Amino acid sequence: MKKRILGNGLEVSALGLGCMGLSFAYGPATDKKDAIPLLHAAFDAGITFFDTAEAYGPFANEELLGEALAPFRDKVVIATKFGFKQGKPDQGMDSTPANIRAVAEAALKRMKTDYIDLFYQHRVDPNVPIEEVAGTVAELIKEGKVRHWGLSEAGAITIRRAHAVLPVTALQSEYSLWWREPEQEIIPVLKELNIGFVPFSPLGKGFLTGAINESTQFDSTDFRNVVPRFSEENRRLNQVVVDLLKDIAAEKQATPAQIALAWLLAQGEGIVPIPGTTKLSRLQENIGAINIELSADELTAIEKATDAITIQGARYPQHLMARVGK
Ligand SMILES: NC(=O)c1ccc[n+]([C@@H]2O[C@H](COP(=O)([O-])OP(=O)(O)OC[C@H]3O[C@@H](n4cnc5c(N)ncnc54)[C@H](OP(=O)(O)O)[C@@H]3O)[C@@H](O)[C@H]2O)c1
Repeated sequence: MKKRILGNGLEVSALGLGCMGLSFAYGPATDKKDAIPLLHAAFDAGITFFDTAEAYGPFANEELLGEALAPFRDKVVIATKFGFKQGKPDQGMDSTPANIRAVAEAALKRMKTDYIDLFYQHRVDPNVPIEEVAGTVAELIKEGKVRHWGLSEAGAITIRRAHAVLPVTALQSEYSLWWREPEQEIIPVLKELNIGFVPFSPLGKGFLTGAINESTQFDSTDFRNVVPRFSEENRRLNQVVVDLLKDIAAEKQATPAQIALAWLLAQGEGIVPIPGTTKLSRLQENIGAINIELSADELTAIEKATDAITIQGARYPQHLMARVGK
């Protein structure tokens, strides 16, 4: 497995594993007896970067990772996140120093470890200056409880302010062939400051793989039921981007998911996508993206073609859009 460096020194596998879907957001949680072998298979295949958050479950996903990754704890990088009241996104933000500390302590217990490799603020808290957040994380780093920190869905000004207090190792924000906004302002700032970029939902929450169409029925608890981009009508209209990926995949003897990931990997050495899956065959398929090289001409063709497509529907429901890019 190829490795990449985030920020000034966090080495991880070039592709990480997003673990949210094992416990949260896309229907019922995966049974532990299936989830643990999947996590072990990821490690056996060379993945050393695992993404979780206290909010995933809440709490269950951190517990799962703690148990599954314990046998090789010192060989993996576990990223987790703080910043919601009681760990629940629907309760609003809480990045007060007391909450950051409490989440760190609880996450360490749940993950049965004595350090968090990468601790992200899950969303910027409008009520707590980012300098105060950075200062609190700096103390946790001094105490040896945290090794690196990051932000998620933060705007350029916040990234700069945060980095000035405590160097930021990575930004984790949505980025994929159907959400390229970070190219405008965010990626240039990350490159300038040498901050890594961890694109979340790199497969467009599954849509870019071609496995979802207008007749797909999501479980009643699936978050995609409330995402405008996933309305039945928009799934029909947005198939055009999947058709494009299918054509390129056919030419490259690859799958649409692999092309979506290979394109992200080609955007820069400091980029480490974290696709999520609950299925072993898809894990292996996604890892295959690492060996797909897209030439400069192919990348230009992909970008030109996606530029010509207007994706229909917002990537979050309106009340959650208010939390991103701050
Ligand atoms: N910081 C944040 O605010 C934030 C927000 C969202 C996500 N994240 C992180 O990013 C990770 C990845 O994002 P994500 O899970 O939202 O989206 P994603 O990785 O773009 O897509 C995951 C979805 O795609 C499906 N899938 C995966 N590989 C596939 C393949 N080869 N063929 C067909 N379907 C495939 C999965 O279904 P199956 O399970 O059925 O395979 C799942 O429903 C999360 O696990 C989480 O750790 C962070």
